[in-house]
Amino acid sequence: MPFKLIDLPFAADALEPAISAETFSYHHGKHHQAYIDKTNAAIEGTELADKSLEEVIAAARGSNQGLFNNAAQSWNHGFFWHSLAPDSGAPSDELAAMIDKAFGSRDGLAKQLADRGAGHFASGWVWLAEKGGSLSIEETHDGDTLADSGFNPLLVIDLWEHAYYLDHQNKRPAYLDAVIGKLDWGFASDNLARGSVWTYPA
Ligand SMILES: [Fe+2]
Repeated sequence: MPFKLIDLPFAADALEPAISAETFSYHHGKHHQAYIDKTNAAIEGTELADKSLEEVIAAARGSNQGLFNNAAQSWNHGFFWHSLAPDSGAPSDELAAMIDKAFGSRDGLAKQLADRGAGHFASGWVWLAEKGGSLSIEETHDGDTLADSGFNPLLVIDLWEHAYYLDHQNKRPAYLDAVIGKLDWGFASDNLARGSVWTYPA
């Protein structure tokens, strides 16, 4: 079964002015679509054609960099759309307690996410992740992913220029400040409660 471009879980203009509908028209409609199309083209007719996206990522890591990049970027963008919401809500009691323990407070977490995202060199992703009952902020470069990493990713922010250039030009810190206010704490809480890595919808 070929992989599909999943719909945004909100209206394309619902996150303005943090992220505009115009940005989503390119970022979701063109960039994410291209990663999906290239993944499907690479696995067509191979033994990976009937595997899950998570299985394709794990199989391609270290052995087929082109397929890995496109499959991981397909997954990362699906996870990113779900990491965002017009109404960010609140973390579960369990997640809130873990945030306080690891970062002091929600504000402490927000500051560390903003600092790590701003300091990340070139393209990549900054994640809130859980492993062994503790939270941490992780960074991956280019198309790399936490999907098959041993971490349980809770949230992610895209740090590629295509994520913010139309709305914030080169000011990645302004984008981070805006987008951190649109993180979906319900999604993060669900990921923590499930205790296993989110799966890309079939
Ligand atoms: Fe992106």
